[in-house]
Amino acid sequence: MPTSKIAGIGCYIPENKVTNEDLKQYMETTDEWIQERTGIRERHYAHRTKETTTTMAVEASKIAIERAGITALDIDFIVFATLSPDYYFPGCGVLVQRALQMKEIGALDIRNQCSGFVYALSVADQFIKTGMYKNILVIGSEKHSFGLDFSTRGRNVSVLFGDGAGAVVLQATEKEGQGIISTHLHSDGQSAELLAMYNPGTHANHWVKEPVADYTDAAIGEMFMSEQMIDKAQNFPFMDGPAVFKKAIVKFPEVIMEALTKNRLTTADITILIPHQANLRISQFVQQKLALRNDQVFNNIQHYGNTTAASIPIALCEAWQQGKIKEGDLVCMAAFGSGFTWASALVRW
Ligand code: ACO
Repeated sequence: MPTSKIAGIGCYIPENKVTNEDLKQYMETTDEWIQERTGIRERHYAHRTKETTTTMAVEASKIAIERAGITALDIDFIVFATLSPDYYFPGCGVLVQRALQMKEIGALDIRNQCSGFVYALSVADQFIKTGMYKNILVIGSEKHSFGLDFSTRGRNVSVLFGDGAGAVVLQATEKEGQGIISTHLHSDGQSAELLAMYNPGTHANHWVKEPVADYTDAAIGEMFMSEQMIDKAQNFPFMDGPAVFKKAIVKFPEVIMEALTKNRLTTADITILIPHQANLRISQFVQQKLALRNDQVFNNIQHYGNTTAASIPIALCEAWQQGKIKEGDLVCMAAFGSGFTWASALVRW
C-alpha cells in the first residue's frame, strides 16, 4: 500500500507588516499586553483589494509544486482548508484549480478552522493510501484582516490574527517507513458557540443561548445579514478566550500523546513539534507538559500571529527552510480550535 510523503512545501506571507504599536491607532491596547498574553509582536495583512485567500494560496502552491519537481498539471486533487474563503460559495479549491490552469480535477474545501490543515492532510492521506490519487495539493490559507473588529470592542480577537498561506504536495511513495504514519481527528460540538462567527448563517438563534439577533420581525431577505447584526458586531468572530485556552492546553498534549502511543513512540522520538500557532503561552504549556526541549518545538507566532488553517503549513515550511527538518526526522503536527476540533499528524520525513 502506498503511503503519503510531503514532496514539496511552500508558503506565502503578505508584505504589509502590522506591529502591535500600529494596532494602537484603532483600539485601546498595548504592545505589553499583547506580547505578555500571546507572544505576538507583529502580523501581516494582505492587500485589501489585490490579495485574497486564494491568491495567497496560489503563491504558496506554486512554490510547493515546484519544490516537488512536478507541474500543476500533475496534481490529481485539491484539498483547501480555510475559514475566510473568497466567496461564501463556491469554495477556494476551484479558484486554485482555475488560477493554476489545472486539469478538471476534484477540489474540496475543508471548514475546520485551526485544525483545518491537519484535517485536510488526513483526508488527502486517505485518497493516496487507497491508490486513488498520486499527487494532492493540500492548502491552508486565510485572509483574516478583512473581517476583524478593529475597535476596542473586538480587541481580544483582532490582535491575535494574521494573514498568510501554506501548501504542500502530498505524494504517493512506496518507500518503506517514509511519509504520514497516522492522523488523529476529534471534535466536541458542545462548545461550538464559544469560538464562532454566527453570521452569515441559517441558525436563527436555534443553538445560541444568548440570542444574537431579534429575528421575530425579520422579513425574508433580512435574515442573512441584517443591519442589526452588523450594528451589534455579529458579523465578527466571537471568542471566549479563557474557555478556549483551558480546553486547548488539555487537548493539545492529549492528541499528541495519542499519536505517539498508537505508534509505540515517545516524546523523545519527536524531532520537531509543529503546533498550531494560537498563542505562544499555549505552545509553552504543551512543551512543558510533555517535557520537550526547545529545539523540539517550533514557534513563529511572534511574527505572524494566528493564521488559523495556514499556521501549521507556514510553520512547517519555515522549519524546513531553516534546515530543522531532514529526511528521516519525526515531525508531529497538532492543532486545536473552533468547533471545538483538534487533531494531530505524525510524519516520517
Ligand atoms: N489589549 C488590552 N487589553 C485587552 C485586550 C487587548 N488586545 N484584549 C482583552 N483585553 C482585556 C480584557 O478586556 C480584560 O479586561 P478586564 O479584566 O478589565 O475585563 C483583560 O484584558 C483580560 O481578558 P481575558 O480575555 O481574560 O485575557 P486572557 O488572559 O484570557 O487572554 C487570549 C486572552 C489571549 C485571547 C487568551 O484567552 C487565548 O489565547 N485564548 C485561546 C485562543 C485560542 O487558542 N484560540 C483557538 C484558535 S482560534 C480559531 O480556532 C479560529
